[in-house]
Amino acid sequence: MARLCLAVCAIFFLLCLHASLTSSLRLNPTAEDKGNHARRTAYHFQPAKNWQNGPMYHNGMYHLFYQYNPHGALWDIGNLSWGHSVSGDLVNWAALDTALDPTSPFDINGCWSGSATILPGGIPAILYTGIDADKNQVQNVAFPKNPSDPLLRQWEKPAYNPIIPLPADVPGDKFRDPSTAWLGHDGLWRIAVSAEVAGVASTLVYKSKDFIRWDRIAAAAPLHASHAAGMVECPDFFPVSHDGGQVVRHVLKVSVMDTLQDYYMVGRYDDATDAFSPSEPERGDDCRSWRRLDYGHVYASKSFHDKRKDRRVVWAWANESDSQADDVARGWSGVQTFPRKAWLDEDGKQLLQWPIEEIETLRRRRFGLRRGTRLDAGALREIAAGGVAGLQGDVEVVFRIPSLEEAERVDDPNSLMDPQKLCGEKGADVPGGVGPFGLIVMASGDLHEHTAVFFRVFKHHDNYKLLMCTDLRKSSTRAGVYKPPYGGFVDMDIEEHKTISLRTLIDHSVMESFGGGGRACITARVYPEHVATSNSHMYVFNNGTDTVKVVKLDAWELATATVNVIGDDGAQQRHSEA
Ligand SMILES: *[C@@H]1O[C@H](CO)[C@@H](O)[C@H](O)[C@H]1NC(C)=O
Ligand SMILES: *[C@@H]1O[C@H](CO)[C@@H](O)[C@H](O)[C@H]1NC(C)=O
Ligand SMILES: *[C@@H]1O[C@H](CO)[C@@H](O)[C@H](O)[C@H]1NC(C)=O
Repeated sequence: MARLCLAVCAIFFLLCLHASLTSSLRLNPTAEDKGNHARRTAYHFQPAKNWQNGPMYHNGMYHLFYQYNPHGALWDIGNLSWGHSVSGDLVNWAALDTALDPTSPFDINGCWSGSATILPGGIPAILYTGIDADKNQVQNVAFPKNPSDPLLRQWEKPAYNPIIPLPADVPGDKFRDPSTAWLGHDGLWRIAVSAEVAGVASTLVYKSKDFIRWDRIAAAAPLHASHAAGMVECPDFFPVSHDGGQVVRHVLKVSVMDTLQDYYMVGRYDDATDAFSPSEPERGDDCRSWRRLDYGHVYASKSFHDKRKDRRVVWAWANESDSQADDVARGWSGVQTFPRKAWLDEDGKQLLQWPIEEIETLRRRRFGLRRGTRLDAGALREIAAGGVAGLQGDVEVVFRIPSLEEAERVDDPNSLMDPQKLCGEKGADVPGGVGPFGLIVMASGDLHEHTAVFFRVFKHHDNYKLLMCTDLRKSSTRAGVYKPPYGGFVDMDIEEHKTISLRTLIDHSVMESFGGGGRACITARVYPEHVATSNSHMYVFNNGTDTVKVVKLDAWELATATVNVIGDDGAQQRHSEA
């Protein structure tokens, strides 16, 4: 099981070329919403078939490399290639041939995750983990065969690989996922690599002058070490600023195999010593107590700097929640979250994440609710969306909380320790004081199937805690599907703000929600049965005794993007250009 996620991280990078990939947008996807296509997403990235996961990067043209099994829908440890797709806008994608295949002694048992870096002169390089002939994990480099090919279709793996063999103090199956490289003031390249060193989950730093010979530095003091976390993987390390500002902090993100979650810490990075000092040391040494990138169902996130819009873009992989037999029947499994812009909150401690603005190119019909609509206790108001928007939608709502008087009091602070558990105990149908209020989405006409995305305010002494939940327990009548209540706290001063925003992206079998302007994100995979025969409905509701007001509500129907489309012959259409 844990192995499933080993391979996860990926990359992108960009070229100096504007792609003219046409975005043929199809509305009305319901006609093809039959059989195995029913769960296929309309605007989330996925290959046409077979197993995938992993992310991306940059300039005029975006490239996404991802873990791909050319032979089947499941993860096959020995046959992993790097799939490759390109896009002009991060929304519409065309599939190219695989970029890397396990054909060399240093990767003969699989091309696992890695990253791309743009070297001076605009030449991209890929660093990736190969499973060599001895089944050891080693780090390799690859370069484009023809750097002037705008699509960078073919990649060469130099014979001098591996560039970083397995270190003597690291087990053969615990050394992987080189990050995108960064340059220090000393002019040397650095990368982060995950390794278990003497039983300790470590994020090691390697340095290089020429990108080919790499030395492990600060062996005694890796960027991060978690003693009890087990193996961590897919490290991501990047500078962040407040929106549009100067770089003020760095973020270290790791994916923890033990919990299958992504955690991050904001901190200060000193490239003279390659030391990373957490901004919240009180969260402890164990990365499992850091902030969560997403409180739902994602893993192996990866980010890149989008030079075109000078922004940090984060993607994560959301695997399926039904069975492997379902994966095989569908012919594919796993999607990427919609790309998110990430930046540093004013508090200097947390990231804000928000769907990239390009999603607006997909917006079609808009639905709303009158500003100032009051939601009294027990209110349930349908948003006149129906049709396509119920399955392919983008909803943004802002609630005003006139009073916090009625917030539910909590005496035992321990009951505020586990937000997911709290969401399980206090669902949308458990009336409260301030909340639960929020959205009901992907609902059948009789509400028998529905997913509630909502907030609830608690008071402990003089502090308010804002809980956000995505409750999947009633999302589908189908058995054998993972349907937990997900939850996280939104870290904001609700007393001062008095308003709370919620944005939810709905795309057939994936739902992404952003609470409090992107302070808390919850991604979920959902498999409602009613969509095969009827529309999905959408509502706002309030089950708290305190009235809340809808300051604004906009819901859009989204068009279907062109994503690695399957041709009539069943083959993945490839973008070929001489
Ligand atoms: C790769 O896939 C092929 C075809 O499915 C299979 O025969 C082979 O055993 C796989 N190789 C490994 C190393 O798993
Ligand atoms: C994929 O999702 C299932 C839940 O259906 C979970 O049990 C499994 O651990 C997930 N795998 C990864 C790698 O996240
Ligand atoms: C609100 O609570 C009542 C009482 O438990 C319940 O019947 C109703 O379904 C709840 N509303 C929502 C939207 O869950």
